[in-house]
Amino acid sequence: MTQIQSPTGAPHARILGVGGYRPSRVVTNEQICEMIDSSDEWIRTRTGIEERRWASAEETVGVMSLAAAGKALAAAGVEPEQLGCVVISTVTHLAQTPSLAVDVANQLGAKNAAAFDISAACAGFCHGLALAQDMIRGGSAEYVLVIGVERLSDLTDVTDRSTAFIFGDGAGAAVVGPSQTPGIGPVVWGADGAQLDAIGQTFTWDALRERPELGFPALRMAGQQVFRWASYQMVPVAKKALERAGITAEQLDAFIPHQANNRITDAMIRALKLPEHVPVARDIAKQGNTSAASIPLAMERMLEEGEAPHGGVALLIGFGAGLVYAAQVVVLP
Ligand SMILES: CC(C)(COP(=O)(O)OP(=O)(O)OC[C@H]1O[C@@H](n2cnc3c(N)ncnc32)[C@H](O)[C@@H]1OP(=O)(O)O)[C@@H](O)C(=O)NCCC(=O)NCCS
Repeated sequence: MTQIQSPTGAPHARILGVGGYRPSRVVTNEQICEMIDSSDEWIRTRTGIEERRWASAEETVGVMSLAAAGKALAAAGVEPEQLGCVVISTVTHLAQTPSLAVDVANQLGAKNAAAFDISAACAGFCHGLALAQDMIRGGSAEYVLVIGVERLSDLTDVTDRSTAFIFGDGAGAAVVGPSQTPGIGPVVWGADGAQLDAIGQTFTWDALRERPELGFPALRMAGQQVFRWASYQMVPVAKKALERAGITAEQLDAFIPHQANNRITDAMIRALKLPEHVPVARDIAKQGNTSAASIPLAMERMLEEGEAPHGGVALLIGFGAGLVYAAQVVVLP
């Protein structure tokens, strides 16, 4: 029987550089409260959000992705031609096809890269990292660009009291490459389709064929259901990611959870018995919930502000619509 070859890649993979893009327009809680019956105080205490950024017409998902990717490539010292794959996680690229990743790869000059989008909502960046690490170890790419980008303001009903204050726009990118030592721990991931209805669109695009008067869809969310699930069900997932990486919470140099709600983060900190010396991402205060972009944006800020050390070990956990989740321990670039 004819045998085929199946070469493997590098022994390990690691994040070599991160970069983010935060849109220029700041939207304060006061501005949100002009559209819904709420208060700055309620939004701050219930979520931790002080303000968020909403993209202008010019700040498209493509423009924001390119800006974040440029920073990540420069930080990593990697040229676009070296990329073997570009993976973009987004739920707000509003064209069914072609993918955003193909456009971004082309504009970057990543002419040797495969490119595709993934849809894993707020867990998308962690899904992308897991794919990148497997590609690099499996030999299908040497360098992979992972981008999380969202324009959630496009899918926000500004009059909906349960969502209008939460979402923000932005992009975060990471360049993942080969490493002699482990830089991305085993992923712990999954999908709970029984909670398909917890977060979704007010109606699907095809409904417009029958009822064009519906206008444009928005995101809707069963806030309490998602809150409870994230606060309790994500703790064993985070613990397992630590366990599978062979470390304890004591050994962490940073905790970078998806920026969904500070109270979810606080519940996780308590349940994980995270020591006080471990810095925790609180990027939500200035960005709101930027879904797939939230973890790389928070990572970038912690590194830039010297809150988390380069080369330190961080626990990442993303969770969101599906409901889906993914967690892993990484070595920071
Ligand atoms: C959305 C969220 C902040 C709402 O907070 P909550 O504490 O669950 O709010 P509830 O819906 O239970 O409402 C509590 C009270 O606040 C009020 N309230 C709700 N929305 C309000 C708003 N925007 N402004 C002011 N008050 C509000 C309610 O009327 C209720 O008042 P009552 O106690 O007098 O009846 C919270 O559920 C949450 O963060 N969920 C998870 C969201 C998330 O992570 N999503 C993304 C996952 S990727």
